Amino acid sequence: MTWLDEITPRHIQELVPYASARREASSGEVWLNANENPYASPKLAGLSQLNRYPEFQPEQLTQGFARYAGMKQEEVLVTRGIDEGIDLLTRAFCRSGEDNIIYTPPTYGMYKISAETNNIGALSVPLEADWFLDVQGILQQLPQSKLIYLCSPNNPTGSLLDKGDICKIIEAAAGKALVVVDEAYVEFRPEFSMVSMLSKYPNLVVMRTLSKAFGLAGLRCGFLLASPEIIEVLQKVSAPYPIPIPVVDVASEALSEKGIDAMMRDVETLTKDRDKLSDMLREFSFIRKIYPSSANFILFQVKDATAVMTFLLDKDVVIRNQSSQPGLDNTMRVSVGTENEIEKFYQNMKAYEASL
Ligand SMILES: Cc1ncc(COP(=O)(O)O)c(C=O)c1O
Repeated sequence: MTWLDEITPRHIQELVPYASARREASSGEVWLNANENPYASPKLAGLSQLNRYPEFQPEQLTQGFARYAGMKQEEVLVTRGIDEGIDLLTRAFCRSGEDNIIYTPPTYGMYKISAETNNIGALSVPLEADWFLDVQGILQQLPQSKLIYLCSPNNPTGSLLDKGDICKIIEAAAGKALVVVDEAYVEFRPEFSMVSMLSKYPNLVVMRTLSKAFGLAGLRCGFLLASPEIIEVLQKVSAPYPIPIPVVDVASEALSEKGIDAMMRDVETLTKDRDKLSDMLREFSFIRKIYPSSANFILFQVKDATAVMTFLLDKDVVIRNQSSQPGLDNTMRVSVGTENEIEKFYQNMKAYEASL
C-alpha cells in the first residue's frame, strides 16, 4: 500500500469511475456510442461540433497548460476554475464527519466552505504578524488533517508566503497529508511559484487559473498540478465531461504564445496601475494602513469600513469589505480596474473625505 493509498479514503480507492463514452474510446470515425444528435445546430455554424460530447480531459488544453507551466501532460488536471479543483480535492481525500482541512485566515473563503459543505472539519490556523504562516500551529494540527491550503499571493492580503515555510510544512506532512498551494495570482509574481517543487514533493498540489492575469474569469477554467497518481484519484470524482468545447477553444488560444504575451502585457499594466493606485490611496487621511500587494488588488484599512462601503455603493462603485475576516477590522479590498474605473473610485473617495 502506498502513502497515497493510505490517505485516500477506502470508498474512493474502491470507486470505479463512470466510464463515459469519450473515456472508453478516444478515436474513431463513426461515433454511435454516446446518444448524441448527429446533426450540429445550423445556428451554431462556425463553432466546433457542439452536438458531440467533449473529451474528458481535452488533450489540447492539458498539453497547452503543461507547456506553459513546464509540466508533463499527465501532471495536469483541467477544472472549471480553482473552485472546482477545491471541491474535487475535498471529495476525493476527505471523509465526511471524520477528516479535516487546515486553512490560514485571512484567506480565500472557499477552502472552508467546501469543507463545511461536505461535513468536513475546517481547522483555522490564522496567519501571524506581517502575514507569516504559523508553521508550529499548522504542524500541531497536521495529525488530524488531510489537506492544508496555503494561498500565495494571498487573497485578500496581497501578501506572499515564505517558500521556506511552505517547504517545512510539506516535509512535515509527507506521507500524511497533501499541501495545496493556491497560485491564482502567481502570474503577478511568477518567481514565487511552487511549481518547480512538484518534482521534489509528491504530496504537493498547485492550483492555477485563467480567471486572473489571463482575464478569463467568465470562462471558468483552472488547473490542478500534481503527481500523475494524485491526478488519477481526482479524475475518479470528476464529472464525466467537465470542460465545455467552447472553453477548450478559448483557453487553448489564451495559452498560445500570442495569448501568453498578451497576458504578460496585462500583468505589466496592472502592476503599474496598482502601484499608482496605492500612491493615490496615500492621500486620504481616513485611510490608516495600505498593505503592500503582489497581486491585482490592494487591501487597506480605514476608520469606518461600513461607512465607506455605503458611500461608494451609493455612487455605484463596488469594492469589497473584508472586515469579517480575522485580523482585518475595517479593511477593504479594491481591485485594479481600468484607468477610468480607478479614476471614478478615486474621485468618490475624495468626495467621501470631503463629506467627513
Ligand atoms: C485565491 C483565490 N483562489 C481561487 C479563486 C477562484 O478561482 P477560479 O475563478 O479559478 O475558480 C479566487 C477568486 O477570487 C481567489 O482569489
